Amino acid sequence: MTKFGERWNAGLRELIAEAGVNAMKDAGIPGEQIDALYGGTMASGSLIGQEHITALIADYMGLNPIPATRVEAACASGGVALRTAYMAVASGLHDTVVVGGVEKMTDVSTGDATIALGGAGDQEWELFNGATFPALYALAARRHMFEYGTTEEQMAAVAVKNHANAAKNPFAQFTKEITLETVMNSKVIADPLKLMDCSPISDGAAAVILMPLDKAKEHTDKPVEIVASAQASDTLALQSRKSLTSLRATQVAAEKAYRLAGIKPSDVNVCEVHDCFTIAEILAIEDLGFFKKGEGGKATEEGETALNSRISVNTSGGLKGCGHPVGATGVKQAVEIAWQLRGDGGRRQVKDARIGMTHNVGGSGATAVVSVMRRAD
Ligand SMILES: CC(C)(COP(=O)(O)OP(=O)(O)OC[C@H]1O[C@@H](n2cnc3c(N)ncnc32)[C@H](O)[C@@H]1OP(=O)(O)O)[C@@H](O)C(=O)NCCC(=O)NCCS
Repeated sequence: MTKFGERWNAGLRELIAEAGVNAMKDAGIPGEQIDALYGGTMASGSLIGQEHITALIADYMGLNPIPATRVEAACASGGVALRTAYMAVASGLHDTVVVGGVEKMTDVSTGDATIALGGAGDQEWELFNGATFPALYALAARRHMFEYGTTEEQMAAVAVKNHANAAKNPFAQFTKEITLETVMNSKVIADPLKLMDCSPISDGAAAVILMPLDKAKEHTDKPVEIVASAQASDTLALQSRKSLTSLRATQVAAEKAYRLAGIKPSDVNVCEVHDCFTIAEILAIEDLGFFKKGEGGKATEEGETALNSRISVNTSGGLKGCGHPVGATGVKQAVEIAWQLRGDGGRRQVKDARIGMTHNVGGSGATAVVSVMRRAD
Protein backbone atom coordinates (compact mmCIF):
# COMPACT_ATOMS: atom_id res chain seq x y z
CA MET A 1 0.00 0.00 0.00
CA THR A 2 0.99 3.62 -0.34
CA LYS A 3 1.13 5.95 2.57
CA PHE A 4 -2.38 7.30 3.13
CA GLY A 5 -3.01 11.02 3.67
CA GLU A 6 -2.86 14.19 1.67
CA ARG A 7 -0.66 13.05 -1.22
CA TRP A 8 -0.55 16.37 -3.10
CA ASN A 9 2.57 15.28 -5.02
CA ALA A 10 0.94 12.16 -6.59
CA GLY A 11 -2.02 11.74 -8.92
CA LEU A 12 -4.37 8.76 -8.94
CA ARG A 13 -2.30 6.84 -11.49
CA GLU A 14 0.94 7.32 -9.52
CA LEU A 15 -0.74 6.16 -6.31
CA ILE A 16 -2.14 2.93 -7.73
CA ALA A 17 1.03 2.19 -9.71
CA GLU A 18 3.09 2.59 -6.52
CA ALA A 19 0.90 0.10 -4.67
CA GLY A 20 0.58 -2.28 -7.64
CA VAL A 21 4.28 -2.41 -8.46
CA ASN A 22 5.15 -2.94 -4.79
CA ALA A 23 2.65 -5.81 -4.56
CA MET A 24 4.12 -7.44 -7.68
CA LYS A 25 7.65 -7.05 -6.31
CA ASP A 26 6.61 -8.44 -2.93
CA ALA A 27 5.04 -11.48 -4.61
CA GLY A 28 7.96 -11.87 -7.01
CA ILE A 29 5.60 -11.74 -10.01
CA PRO A 30 6.62 -9.82 -13.15
CA GLY A 31 3.94 -7.99 -15.15
CA GLU A 32 3.96 -10.60 -17.95
CA GLN A 33 2.57 -13.17 -15.51
CA ILE A 34 -0.48 -11.11 -14.51
CA ASP A 35 -3.63 -12.40 -16.25
CA ALA A 36 -6.18 -9.83 -15.13
CA LEU A 37 -6.64 -6.66 -13.11
CA TYR A 38 -9.59 -5.79 -10.86
CA GLY A 39 -9.78 -2.29 -9.45
CA GLY A 40 -11.98 -0.66 -6.82
CA THR A 41 -12.66 3.06 -6.94
CA MET A 42 -15.79 4.80 -5.79
CA ALA A 43 -15.99 8.32 -7.12
CA SER A 44 -13.05 9.10 -9.39
CA GLY A 45 -15.45 10.80 -11.82
CA SER A 46 -16.77 13.29 -9.26
CA LEU A 47 -13.48 13.72 -7.43
CA ILE A 48 -10.95 14.07 -10.27
CA GLY A 49 -13.07 13.91 -13.43
CA GLN A 50 -11.53 10.63 -14.51
CA GLU A 51 -13.57 7.52 -15.38
CA HIS A 52 -12.45 4.37 -17.18
CA ILE A 53 -9.98 3.96 -14.38
CA THR A 54 -8.88 0.34 -14.69
CA ALA A 55 -7.98 0.64 -18.39
CA LEU A 56 -5.92 3.70 -17.44
CA ILE A 57 -4.18 1.79 -14.65
CA ALA A 58 -3.44 -1.28 -16.78
CA ASP A 59 -1.88 1.00 -19.36
CA TYR A 60 0.13 3.04 -16.84
CA MET A 61 1.42 -0.15 -15.19
CA GLY A 62 2.42 -1.65 -18.54
CA LEU A 63 -0.07 -4.50 -18.21
CA ASN A 64 -1.89 -4.15 -21.55
CA PRO A 65 -3.65 -6.09 -23.06
CA ILE A 66 -4.96 -8.01 -20.01
CA PRO A 67 -8.64 -7.53 -19.08
CA ALA A 68 -9.00 -4.70 -16.56
CA THR A 69 -12.31 -4.45 -14.73
CA ARG A 70 -13.56 -1.67 -12.48
CA VAL A 71 -15.69 -2.60 -9.48
CA GLU A 72 -17.84 0.01 -7.74
CA ALA A 73 -19.71 -0.48 -4.50
CA ALA A 74 -19.18 2.89 -2.79
CA CYS A 75 -16.75 2.58 0.16
CA ALA A 76 -16.85 -1.21 -0.29
CA SER A 77 -15.44 -0.96 -3.84
CA GLY A 78 -12.07 -2.35 -2.74
CA GLY A 79 -13.53 -5.24 -0.76
CA VAL A 80 -15.90 -6.19 -3.56
CA ALA A 81 -13.03 -5.97 -6.09
CA LEU A 82 -11.07 -8.38 -3.87
CA ARG A 83 -14.01 -10.79 -3.73
CA THR A 84 -14.57 -10.55 -7.50
CA ALA A 85 -10.91 -11.34 -8.16
CA TYR A 86 -11.03 -14.18 -5.61
CA MET A 87 -13.98 -15.70 -7.52
CA ALA A 88 -12.09 -15.33 -10.81
CA VAL A 89 -9.09 -17.26 -9.45
CA ALA A 90 -11.19 -19.81 -7.54
CA SER A 91 -13.23 -20.57 -10.68
CA GLY A 92 -10.08 -21.17 -12.70
CA LEU A 93 -10.92 -18.33 -15.10
CA HIS A 94 -7.69 -16.53 -14.27
CA ASP A 95 -4.51 -17.75 -12.66
CA THR A 96 -2.67 -14.68 -11.40
CA VAL A 97 -4.59 -11.52 -10.72
CA VAL A 98 -3.74 -8.09 -9.33
CA VAL A 99 -6.43 -6.37 -7.26
CA GLY A 100 -6.10 -2.68 -6.54
CA GLY A 101 -8.08 -0.02 -4.76
CA VAL A 102 -7.50 3.70 -5.08
CA GLU A 103 -9.02 7.10 -4.40
CA LYS A 104 -7.72 10.62 -4.78
CA MET A 105 -9.97 12.75 -2.58
CA THR A 106 -8.04 15.76 -1.36
CA ASP A 107 -7.97 17.72 -4.63
CA VAL A 108 -11.51 18.98 -3.92
CA SER A 109 -12.99 20.90 -0.97
CA THR A 110 -14.54 19.06 1.98
CA GLY A 111 -17.95 20.21 0.71
CA ASP A 112 -17.41 18.71 -2.73
CA ALA A 113 -16.03 15.49 -1.24
CA THR A 114 -19.11 15.31 1.02
CA ILE A 115 -21.42 15.59 -2.00
CA ALA A 116 -19.45 12.92 -3.91
CA LEU A 117 -19.56 10.59 -0.88
CA GLY A 118 -23.26 11.29 -0.39
CA GLY A 119 -23.95 9.52 -3.68
CA ALA A 120 -23.33 6.27 -1.79
CA GLY A 121 -26.61 6.86 0.03
CA ASP A 122 -30.00 7.56 -1.49
CA GLN A 123 -29.40 10.76 -3.47
CA GLU A 124 -33.08 11.70 -3.82
CA TRP A 125 -34.32 10.86 -0.33
CA GLU A 126 -31.22 11.48 1.77
CA LEU A 127 -28.43 13.67 0.36
CA PHE A 128 -30.81 16.05 -1.47
CA ASN A 129 -32.41 16.76 1.89
CA GLY A 130 -29.10 17.35 3.66
CA ALA A 131 -28.46 13.87 5.05
CA THR A 132 -24.70 13.62 4.51
CA PHE A 133 -22.77 10.58 5.70
CA PRO A 134 -21.81 12.05 9.07
CA ALA A 135 -25.52 12.90 9.52
CA LEU A 136 -26.69 9.36 8.66
CA TYR A 137 -24.24 7.74 11.07
CA ALA A 138 -25.19 10.33 13.71
CA LEU A 139 -28.76 8.95 13.53
CA ALA A 140 -27.41 5.44 14.14
CA ALA A 141 -25.31 6.74 17.03
CA ARG A 142 -28.29 8.50 18.69
CA ARG A 143 -30.44 5.38 18.36
CA HIS A 144 -27.68 3.13 19.78
CA MET A 145 -27.31 5.54 22.71
CA PHE A 146 -31.09 5.49 23.26
CA GLU A 147 -31.51 1.71 23.02
CA TYR A 148 -28.37 0.50 24.77
CA GLY A 149 -27.04 3.40 26.81
CA THR A 150 -23.92 3.73 24.67
CA THR A 151 -22.06 6.93 25.58
CA GLU A 152 -20.12 9.53 23.62
CA GLU A 153 -17.07 8.54 25.69
CA GLN A 154 -17.41 4.92 24.52
CA MET A 155 -17.49 6.08 20.91
CA ALA A 156 -14.49 8.30 21.61
CA ALA A 157 -12.65 5.22 22.96
CA VAL A 158 -12.81 3.74 19.43
CA ALA A 159 -10.96 6.79 18.07
CA VAL A 160 -8.36 6.74 20.85
CA LYS A 161 -7.62 3.03 20.22
CA ASN A 162 -7.46 3.40 16.44
CA HIS A 163 -5.18 6.44 16.59
CA ALA A 164 -2.93 4.47 19.00
CA ASN A 165 -2.69 1.66 16.42
CA ALA A 166 -2.16 4.14 13.58
CA ALA A 167 0.74 5.64 15.52
CA LYS A 168 2.47 2.26 15.06
CA ASN A 169 1.73 2.14 11.32
CA PRO A 170 4.15 4.01 9.03
CA PHE A 171 1.54 3.97 6.21
CA ALA A 172 -1.14 5.72 8.29
CA GLN A 173 -2.47 9.22 7.69
CA PHE A 174 -2.41 10.10 11.41
CA THR A 175 0.64 8.98 13.33
CA LYS A 176 -0.01 10.69 16.66
CA GLU A 177 -1.86 9.21 19.61
CA ILE A 178 -4.85 11.18 20.88
CA THR A 179 -6.64 11.31 24.24
CA LEU A 180 -10.28 10.98 25.17
CA GLU A 181 -10.33 14.72 25.92
CA THR A 182 -9.09 15.51 22.38
CA VAL A 183 -12.01 13.57 20.92
CA MET A 184 -14.59 14.97 23.32
CA ASN A 185 -13.41 18.56 22.77
CA SER A 186 -13.19 18.35 18.97
CA LYS A 187 -15.73 20.33 16.92
CA VAL A 188 -19.18 18.87 16.39
CA ILE A 189 -19.70 17.60 12.81
CA ALA A 190 -23.16 15.98 13.12
CA ASP A 191 -24.30 15.72 16.72
CA PRO A 192 -23.28 13.52 18.56
CA LEU A 193 -20.39 12.82 16.16
CA LYS A 194 -17.40 15.11 16.47
CA LEU A 195 -14.41 15.65 14.18
CA MET A 196 -12.46 12.93 15.95
CA ASP A 197 -15.35 10.45 15.57
CA CYS A 198 -15.03 10.72 11.77
CA SER A 199 -12.70 9.06 9.32
CA PRO A 200 -10.81 11.68 7.31
CA ILE A 201 -10.72 12.54 3.63
CA SER A 202 -7.66 10.82 2.16
CA ASP A 203 -5.58 9.91 -0.87
CA GLY A 204 -4.10 6.45 -1.17
CA ALA A 205 -3.97 3.07 -2.84
CA ALA A 206 -3.44 -0.58 -1.97
CA ALA A 207 -2.92 -3.75 -4.01
CA VAL A 208 -2.63 -7.50 -3.54
CA ILE A 209 -1.79 -10.40 -5.84
CA LEU A 210 -4.06 -13.45 -5.85
CA MET A 211 -3.25 -16.87 -7.30
CA PRO A 212 -4.00 -20.53 -6.50
CA LEU A 213 -2.45 -21.54 -3.18
CA ASP A 214 -0.13 -24.22 -4.60
CA LYS A 215 1.33 -21.64 -6.95
CA ALA A 216 1.62 -19.03 -4.19
CA LYS A 217 3.67 -21.53 -2.20
CA GLU A 218 6.25 -21.50 -5.00
CA HIS A 219 6.69 -17.75 -4.54
CA THR A 220 6.65 -17.32 -0.78
CA ASP A 221 7.13 -19.38 2.35
CA LYS A 222 4.51 -17.19 4.08
CA PRO A 223 1.38 -17.52 1.91
CA VAL A 224 -1.96 -16.27 3.16
CA GLU A 225 -5.15 -17.99 2.04
CA ILE A 226 -8.57 -16.39 1.52
CA VAL A 227 -10.78 -19.15 2.92
CA ALA A 228 -14.13 -17.43 2.44
CA SER A 229 -15.59 -14.24 1.09
CA ALA A 230 -19.25 -13.28 1.34
CA GLN A 231 -21.24 -10.24 0.36
CA ALA A 232 -24.74 -8.93 1.06
CA SER A 233 -26.94 -5.95 0.22
CA ASP A 234 -29.57 -3.83 1.95
CA THR A 235 -31.67 -0.73 1.23
CA LEU A 236 -29.73 2.41 0.36
CA ALA A 237 -31.96 4.64 2.45
CA LEU A 238 -31.85 4.30 6.23
CA GLN A 239 -35.59 5.06 6.48
CA SER A 240 -36.42 1.71 4.88
CA ARG A 241 -34.44 -0.35 7.41
CA LYS A 242 -35.98 -2.29 10.29
CA SER A 243 -33.21 -1.19 12.60
CA LEU A 244 -30.75 1.69 12.86
CA THR A 245 -28.52 -0.15 15.32
CA SER A 246 -27.53 -3.14 13.14
CA LEU A 247 -26.29 -3.43 9.60
CA ARG A 248 -28.24 -6.40 8.24
CA ALA A 249 -25.88 -6.73 5.26
CA THR A 250 -22.93 -7.14 7.65
CA GLN A 251 -24.77 -9.77 9.67
CA VAL A 252 -25.77 -11.77 6.57
CA ALA A 253 -22.31 -11.57 4.95
CA ALA A 254 -20.61 -12.52 8.23
CA GLU A 255 -22.89 -15.51 8.90
CA LYS A 256 -22.16 -16.80 5.40
CA ALA A 257 -18.42 -16.18 5.65
CA TYR A 258 -18.20 -18.01 9.01
CA ARG A 259 -20.17 -20.93 7.57
CA LEU A 260 -18.02 -21.15 4.42
CA ALA A 261 -14.80 -20.91 6.46
CA GLY A 262 -16.04 -23.36 9.10
CA ILE A 263 -15.16 -20.98 11.94
CA LYS A 264 -16.94 -18.99 14.63
CA PRO A 265 -16.40 -15.36 15.66
CA SER A 266 -14.26 -16.36 18.65
CA ASP A 267 -11.76 -18.04 16.28
CA VAL A 268 -10.81 -14.68 14.73
CA ASN A 269 -7.56 -13.21 16.11
CA VAL A 270 -7.41 -9.98 14.15
CA CYS A 271 -10.05 -8.06 12.21
CA GLU A 272 -10.10 -4.91 10.12
CA VAL A 273 -13.63 -3.47 10.41
CA HIS A 274 -15.26 -0.55 8.63
CA ASP A 275 -15.01 2.29 11.18
CA CYS A 276 -15.94 5.21 8.90
CA PHE A 277 -17.33 6.72 12.11
CA THR A 278 -16.66 5.51 15.64
CA ILE A 279 -20.25 4.28 15.98
CA ALA A 280 -19.69 2.17 12.84
CA GLU A 281 -16.96 0.17 14.62
CA ILE A 282 -19.31 -0.44 17.55
CA LEU A 283 -22.04 -1.66 15.17
CA ALA A 284 -19.49 -3.81 13.32
CA ILE A 285 -18.04 -5.65 16.32
CA GLU A 286 -21.59 -6.47 17.40
CA ASP A 287 -22.91 -7.43 13.95
CA LEU A 288 -19.84 -9.61 13.29
CA GLY A 289 -20.66 -11.51 16.49
CA PHE A 290 -17.60 -10.54 18.54
CA PHE A 291 -19.80 -8.93 21.19
CA LYS A 292 -23.52 -9.05 22.01
CA LYS A 293 -25.75 -6.32 20.53
CA GLY A 294 -25.49 -3.25 22.71
CA GLU A 295 -22.19 -4.23 24.36
CA GLY A 296 -19.73 -2.98 21.72
CA GLY A 297 -19.22 0.43 23.30
CA LYS A 298 -18.55 -0.99 26.77
CA ALA A 299 -16.22 -3.66 25.35
CA THR A 300 -14.20 -1.00 23.52
CA GLU A 301 -14.03 1.22 26.61
CA GLU A 302 -12.77 -1.77 28.62
CA GLY A 303 -9.98 -2.42 26.10
CA GLU A 304 -11.31 -5.71 24.72
CA THR A 305 -10.63 -4.66 21.12
CA ALA A 306 -7.18 -3.16 21.73
CA LEU A 307 -4.01 -4.58 20.23
CA ASN A 308 -3.37 -8.06 21.64
CA SER A 309 -6.53 -8.14 23.77
CA ARG A 310 -9.59 -10.40 23.37
CA ILE A 311 -9.72 -9.56 19.66
CA SER A 312 -7.39 -7.06 17.96
CA VAL A 313 -9.63 -4.73 15.94
CA ASN A 314 -8.26 -2.31 13.36
CA THR A 315 -4.56 -2.82 13.96
CA SER A 316 -3.83 -0.63 10.92
CA GLY A 317 -5.51 2.27 12.67
CA GLY A 318 -8.72 1.56 10.78
CA LEU A 319 -10.41 4.10 8.58
CA LYS A 320 -10.28 6.53 11.49
CA GLY A 321 -6.53 6.56 12.07
CA CYS A 322 -4.99 5.04 8.93
CA GLY A 323 -7.25 7.09 6.63
CA HIS A 324 -10.10 6.33 4.24
CA PRO A 325 -9.37 6.81 0.53
CA VAL A 326 -12.71 5.17 -0.09
CA GLY A 327 -11.99 2.84 -3.04
CA ALA A 328 -8.70 1.73 -1.49
CA THR A 329 -9.98 0.83 1.97
CA GLY A 330 -11.19 -2.74 1.31
CA VAL A 331 -7.90 -3.72 -0.32
CA LYS A 332 -5.89 -2.00 2.41
CA GLN A 333 -7.76 -4.11 4.96
CA ALA A 334 -6.59 -7.25 3.13
CA VAL A 335 -3.02 -5.93 3.02
CA GLU A 336 -3.03 -5.32 6.79
CA ILE A 337 -4.48 -8.76 7.56
CA ALA A 338 -1.94 -10.42 5.21
CA TRP A 339 0.89 -8.59 7.00
CA GLN A 340 -0.48 -9.61 10.39
CA LEU A 341 -0.84 -13.29 9.39
CA ARG A 342 2.67 -13.33 7.92
CA GLY A 343 4.11 -11.82 11.09
CA ASP A 344 5.02 -8.60 9.27
CA GLY A 345 2.90 -6.32 11.48
CA GLY A 346 5.88 -4.48 12.96
CA ARG A 347 5.17 -2.66 16.22
CA ARG A 348 1.47 -3.47 15.89
CA GLN A 349 1.93 -7.24 15.40
CA VAL A 350 -0.79 -9.41 16.92
CA LYS A 351 0.85 -12.30 18.73
CA ASP A 352 0.29 -15.73 17.09
CA ALA A 353 -2.26 -14.35 14.60
CA ARG A 354 -3.57 -17.28 12.54
CA ILE A 355 -7.08 -16.25 11.46
CA GLY A 356 -7.92 -12.76 10.26
CA MET A 357 -10.95 -11.09 8.76
CA THR A 358 -11.84 -8.00 6.75
CA HIS A 359 -15.17 -6.19 6.88
CA ASN A 360 -15.85 -3.48 4.30
CA VAL A 361 -19.10 -1.49 4.08
CA GLY A 362 -20.54 0.55 1.21
CA GLY A 363 -22.67 3.58 2.07
CA SER A 364 -24.55 3.33 5.34
CA GLY A 365 -24.70 -0.46 4.96
CA ALA A 366 -26.30 -1.10 1.57
CA THR A 367 -23.28 -3.28 0.72
CA ALA A 368 -21.15 -5.33 3.09
CA VAL A 369 -18.38 -7.76 2.25
CA VAL A 370 -16.59 -10.00 4.73
CA SER A 371 -13.51 -12.08 3.91
CA VAL A 372 -11.81 -14.63 6.13
CA MET A 373 -8.07 -15.19 5.72
CA ARG A 374 -5.62 -17.59 7.36
CA ARG A 375 -1.97 -18.40 7.41
CA ALA A 376 -1.35 -21.23 5.00
CA ASP A 377 2.29 -22.17 5.68
C1 LIG B 1 -14.91 15.39 9.48
C2 LIG B 1 -14.65 16.25 8.27
C3 LIG B 1 -15.95 16.94 7.86
C4 LIG B 1 -13.60 17.29 8.65
O1 LIG B 1 -13.33 18.07 7.53
P1 LIG B 1 -12.96 19.63 7.72
O2 LIG B 1 -13.88 20.25 8.70
O3 LIG B 1 -12.89 20.24 6.35
O4 LIG B 1 -11.56 19.56 8.38
P2 LIG B 1 -10.23 20.21 7.80
O5 LIG B 1 -9.86 19.52 6.53
O6 LIG B 1 -10.41 21.69 7.78
O7 LIG B 1 -9.17 19.81 8.87
C5 LIG B 1 -9.02 20.52 10.10
C6 LIG B 1 -7.96 19.76 10.89
O8 LIG B 1 -8.49 18.52 11.37
C7 LIG B 1 -7.76 17.43 10.83
N1 LIG B 1 -8.76 16.43 10.43
C8 LIG B 1 -9.64 16.53 9.41
N2 LIG B 1 -10.46 15.46 9.42
C9 LIG B 1 -10.06 14.70 10.47
C10 LIG B 1 -10.52 13.48 10.98
N3 LIG B 1 -11.55 12.85 10.40
N4 LIG B 1 -9.89 12.95 12.05
C11 LIG B 1 -8.85 13.60 12.62
N5 LIG B 1 -8.39 14.79 12.19
C12 LIG B 1 -8.99 15.32 11.11
C13 LIG B 1 -7.00 17.96 9.63
O9 LIG B 1 -5.79 17.23 9.44
C14 LIG B 1 -6.72 19.39 10.09
O10 LIG B 1 -5.63 19.37 10.99
P3 LIG B 1 -4.56 20.57 11.00
O11 LIG B 1 -5.34 21.81 11.31
O12 LIG B 1 -3.60 20.15 12.06
O13 LIG B 1 -4.00 20.58 9.61
C15 LIG B 1 -14.11 15.38 7.09
O14 LIG B 1 -12.92 14.75 7.49
C16 LIG B 1 -15.14 14.36 6.66
O15 LIG B 1 -16.08 14.67 5.93
N6 LIG B 1 -15.00 13.09 7.09
C17 LIG B 1 -15.93 12.04 6.77
C18 LIG B 1 -15.58 11.40 5.47
C19 LIG B 1 -16.64 10.41 5.04
O16 LIG B 1 -17.83 10.66 5.18
N7 LIG B 1 -16.24 9.28 4.48
C20 LIG B 1 -17.13 8.27 4.01
C21 LIG B 1 -17.68 7.52 5.15
S1 LIG B 1 -18.98 6.42 4.71
